[in-house]
Amino acid sequence: MPAIEVRTPQRNYAALVARGVLDELPRHLPRGHGRVFVVSTADVWRHQGERLARALDGVDHAVLHLPGGEEQKRLAPLEALAERMVHLGGDRSSIVVAFGGGVVNDMAGFLAAIFMRGIPVLQVPTTLLAQVDAAIGGKTGVNLVAGKNLIGSFHQPLAVLVDPSLLATLPEREYRAGLFEVIKYGVIRSPEMFEILRSARARVFAQDPEVVDGLIADSVRIKAEVVSADERESGLRRILNYGHTFGHALEAETGYARLLHGEAVGFGMNAAAFLAEQLGLIPAQTAEVMIETVLAYGPIPRLAELDAGRLVSRLAHDKKTIQGHVHFVLPVRIGEVVVRSGVAEAEVRRAMERALAC
Ligand SMILES: NC(=O)c1ccc[n+]([C@@H]2O[C@H](COP(=O)([O-])OP(=O)(O)OC[C@H]3O[C@@H](n4cnc5c(N)ncnc54)[C@H](O)[C@@H]3O)[C@@H](O)[C@H]2O)c1
Repeated sequence: MPAIEVRTPQRNYAALVARGVLDELPRHLPRGHGRVFVVSTADVWRHQGERLARALDGVDHAVLHLPGGEEQKRLAPLEALAERMVHLGGDRSSIVVAFGGGVVNDMAGFLAAIFMRGIPVLQVPTTLLAQVDAAIGGKTGVNLVAGKNLIGSFHQPLAVLVDPSLLATLPEREYRAGLFEVIKYGVIRSPEMFEILRSARARVFAQDPEVVDGLIADSVRIKAEVVSADERESGLRRILNYGHTFGHALEAETGYARLLHGEAVGFGMNAAAFLAEQLGLIPAQTAEVMIETVLAYGPIPRLAELDAGRLVSRLAHDKKTIQGHVHFVLPVRIGEVVVRSGVAEAEVRRAMERALAC
């Protein structure tokens, strides 16, 4: 079983990728632990709860539900859950098991970070996006009205259990949205992954374990490598934002309602490929291959009526804009990106227009 090490100043831990790893969950609980609080949503629990409950047979635990959904990724439900935990005998020896998609991973991780000033969390992601991204790296938090993920903390898990068999019940659109993040890893770090995504599309869509499990493990490995080199995103970790700078602007412009996060990243990768081509970083043919690949994993909802100018002005408000400078992660070839700031606004606008027209 691929055991991928994540090394951070806070703690070192393993991300384990294997079908059936969920069933071994109790092995990853620390000796002498107190009550286990499984934090999930009614939706995830309906699809996959039985398996987790079976794995926890004989372990003292309680299952708590968050409302689920990006619009409910707020502080208030965490306060209510913390009250419940105290009521149910939670203390400093308690453990949180975050069982769900990225929303649950972020919220339950943050709950663990602040409950009694911090208790351990075990991440068990159930969406593709969470398996290859959100559950690894220790970023936790919730949204404010003012913007996404504006309160939170770094709280590294005890371990991340990535069980690709959990994806069998995932709605197809959610699965596709996660695949855009997998494409991202190919573009930023792995021509081999990118090639598999191009040549084995039907097998990827069919969730063929021979292809998909390898892609998930490779994605986890890349995320782990990058996070291990740069936990707090001062340097290398920025490359993980490939497609995200544009994507965040699009999500904000559409009120976080029309697109899934991964779809917005797909749009963002197209805009980044166009921009890189305009700036002479990649030839037109490479940009074309990148865009063609993203579109082959679509559809991304139609966006043609959106105004590129408004998206450009949103870029300045991104949380990752540093002292007014927008940093763009741009490809220089398939498998390598650079970070650029000081890009002329007209070029950014043109790249947005071209991506909106795709
Ligand atoms: N912390 C990080 O580093 C990081 C990185 C990327 C994204 N994120 C966050 O992740 C969130 C998005 O995560 P997401 O895309 O997983 O969305 P999500 O958590 O909302 O899950 C998507 C949907 O899939 C359902 N679902 C989950 N697992 C299922 C399963 N196995 N079977 C059937 N249905 C299932 C959920 O109920 C939900 O309706 C965003 O809030 C984003 O900010 C965090």
